[in-house]
Amino acid sequence: MAFGFIGLGNMGSMMSHNLASYAESAGLPKVQIWNRTRGKSEAVAANSYCDVADSIPDLVRKCNVIHTCLANDDVALSVYREIFQARKHGLILADHSTLFPTTSTTLEKEAREVGASFMSCPVFGPPAAAKSAGLLIVLSGKEESRKAVKSYIVPTLGKGMIDCGEETSKGALLKILGNNCILGTIELLSESFTLAEKTGFDTDVLYEFIQQWFPAAAWVNYGKKIRDGAFSGKTGFTLPGGMKDAAYIRRLGAETSTPTPIIDQAWNHLTTAKALGGESLDWSACAAGMRVTAGLKPFKGEDFSLQGNHANGVNGN
Ligand SMILES: NC(=O)c1ccc[n+]([C@@H]2O[C@H](COP(=O)([O-])OP(=O)(O)OC[C@H]3O[C@@H](n4cnc5c(N)ncnc54)[C@H](OP(=O)(O)O)[C@@H]3O)[C@@H](O)[C@H]2O)c1
Repeated sequence: MAFGFIGLGNMGSMMSHNLASYAESAGLPKVQIWNRTRGKSEAVAANSYCDVADSIPDLVRKCNVIHTCLANDDVALSVYREIFQARKHGLILADHSTLFPTTSTTLEKEAREVGASFMSCPVFGPPAAAKSAGLLIVLSGKEESRKAVKSYIVPTLGKGMIDCGEETSKGALLKILGNNCILGTIELLSESFTLAEKTGFDTDVLYEFIQQWFPAAAWVNYGKKIRDGAFSGKTGFTLPGGMKDAAYIRRLGAETSTPTPIIDQAWNHLTTAKALGGESLDWSACAAGMRVTAGLKPFKGEDFSLQGNHANGVNGN
């Protein structure tokens, strides 16, 4: 296998490094990497078994398995259309971006038309989990391609995988359903901590209850962020990214006549947090939107300075 990785943001920079370690240990060629902002590629290449490709066509020429992790549907469509121009037969494409299911279907069809195979392989877990190869990876797409990627993806990039079968839209759909659970958890935690503060209850004790009664990563990690008002977006999942995913959930609800009242509320709170200056924060800043509806200051710090004191890099989805 000759690997490539496109999209070296918070997630992709960590995943490409781990893929490179695997390639090196397996005696495979160096991983070709490409990112819109070249400095990020150079930073990854500085301490990984990688070469920076000059362009997407240059990368495609040198690889037969390409992983991608891109911001949104428009970006994925534009990057993939550049990949497809090479008309490279047998090329395997594993996309880890969170995309709307019909976008994944479109990409799968366009890939098939040029003899390539596109798989929707979204991931669960924050950048810290991407770094420690602790992601949960979803696989969907052609059987042969899933088999090829399954041969190394765990433990190289993740600690577990869920196989959603041949239909590429199913992987994207599971990611959106999973995010429904995660954003719903953030919304509920926001409400619980706000209620605790309004009733004069010690939020440290509420957090202790959460740790003992809901010992799951999303509860414990987001509970801590919300208790502390520490919403660093530097290593997490940005608030605009969270709004993108909330919009996917609401669109799925609208298209299937399924009410999504919890996510509608979370959307309102994310919007308020963004309007109050939280655009660069983690999506758990949703809590700031909830707090103002209860008459509290949105952010516990005078500015966002709490980030520096408490950020632990465990936010994400
Ligand atoms: N962060 C999380 O916790 C998390 C968890 C699971 C899944 N995800 C999903 O993983 C994907 C990446 O998330 P992330 O947190 O790594 O985001 P990120 O740090 O914002 O990275 C986004 C990537 O997309 C690239 N990009 C943006 N606009 C582009 C354009 N016009 N043309 C080419 N490339 C462009 C960026 O390149 P530049 O560096 O040049 O901007 C960067 O490589 C998203 O789909 C997200 O929903 C994120």
